[in-house]
Amino acid sequence: MAVPRNMRKIMCWEDLEAPGKSFLPRALWEFVSAGVEGALSRDGNRTAFDEVWLIPRVLKDVTGRSMDCTLFDKKYDAPFGIAPMGACALFGYQADLNFARAARAANVPYVMSGSALIPMEKIVEANPDVWFQAYVDADRSAIAGLADRAWNAGFRHFAVTVDVPVPGNRGSSLRSGFGYPVRPNARIAFDGLSHPRWLLRTFFRTLMTSGMPHLENTGAQRGIPIISGKAPGRTHVRDALDWEDMKWLRDRWQGKLLLKGVLSAEDAKTAREIGLDGLFVSNHGGRQLDTALSPLKALPAIAAEKGDMTLMYDGGIRRGTDVIKALAMGADCVLAGRPFLYAAALGEQEGVAHAIDLMKQEVYRNLALLGCNDLSNLASRLA
Ligand SMILES: Cc1cc2nc3c(=O)[nH]c(=O)nc-3n(C[C@H](O)[C@H](O)[C@H](O)COP(=O)(O)O)c2cc1C
Repeated sequence: MAVPRNMRKIMCWEDLEAPGKSFLPRALWEFVSAGVEGALSRDGNRTAFDEVWLIPRVLKDVTGRSMDCTLFDKKYDAPFGIAPMGACALFGYQADLNFARAARAANVPYVMSGSALIPMEKIVEANPDVWFQAYVDADRSAIAGLADRAWNAGFRHFAVTVDVPVPGNRGSSLRSGFGYPVRPNARIAFDGLSHPRWLLRTFFRTLMTSGMPHLENTGAQRGIPIISGKAPGRTHVRDALDWEDMKWLRDRWQGKLLLKGVLSAEDAKTAREIGLDGLFVSNHGGRQLDTALSPLKALPAIAAEKGDMTLMYDGGIRRGTDVIKALAMGADCVLAGRPFLYAAALGEQEGVAHAIDLMKQEVYRNLALLGCNDLSNLASRLA
């Protein structure tokens, strides 16, 4: 797939940030890039990788190397994929569909967000292998309605995000005007008008083709519009949810059931004991509890408790060596968020494909430099 003209100088994921910032209105840029409070967890997700060093082995004939990765009997071409992110279609035209299509073409995992603005039925039609990430309240009939809808749509992997009992303290987003829904005002309008590429390529195009985007997947029915002066705010309070709800859901959901946002080995043990299939070791990209441990540091203790569960990792992945380090420390696969959202905003499906390709090249090159032919023995290369 051709690299979009505006992305030809993007040689690595870090290069996506500056053009992403200039493309997006300030309120959207703040929403995606910010951490919470002092942003210590967001920044710590990156610096945790700087503390891990690798020992290359030489003369290993790495011509036949492979980065294949198998999750729940499905073989992927790379051990990384796209993390769930809400409201993406406000940033890039039909971003969730472009994630689904690019992930399918490259044969990498993609987890769609329960806060996506495109109906789950369309996304799973574009890529039958997509996993569904859900935000749920402790209301079992509402959980059942959402789970049944996801099952009937064709999803077989259901991941409940559990690190948002209440919303994180995102001061910068609130200051710049992002919320669920965004409340229109003169400042927001000026912000949009002063980013004409976004206005034409994402916003007006979306309005013309499918009208005002809504939170389509928060329940059995369509939710609120993403921009509205009148619609009630999303409640976002899930503080009554507990392990009993997860035991109940385990009995009810016939497919793979995972939790997203686990950092404690004791929680991992409980998840294993109630029969869950997997965990996302994650601090939500530093967007929930500030000073929450970096998931890289949490990985070894959780890996020791995982039993047969599959461990996904996300947080701060920007380089091929980051992918390798997380796998070496116990993850079965890693996901990334922000870089893919910038890629979707800048270059739609081709942009996401370019981002996937850049990371595939880095992992493949780094395996050779490390003297590894596959992903099975990476722990032996940790210094
Ligand atoms: C803009 C944005 C929206 C997000 N929305 C969701 C969401 O709807 N559900 C969820 O479980 N995690 C959500 N996350 C967290 C990501 O799934 C992931 O944990 C995080 O982005 C990983 O960190 P990274 O961006 O450094 O790769 C979101 C993250 C971002 C940046």
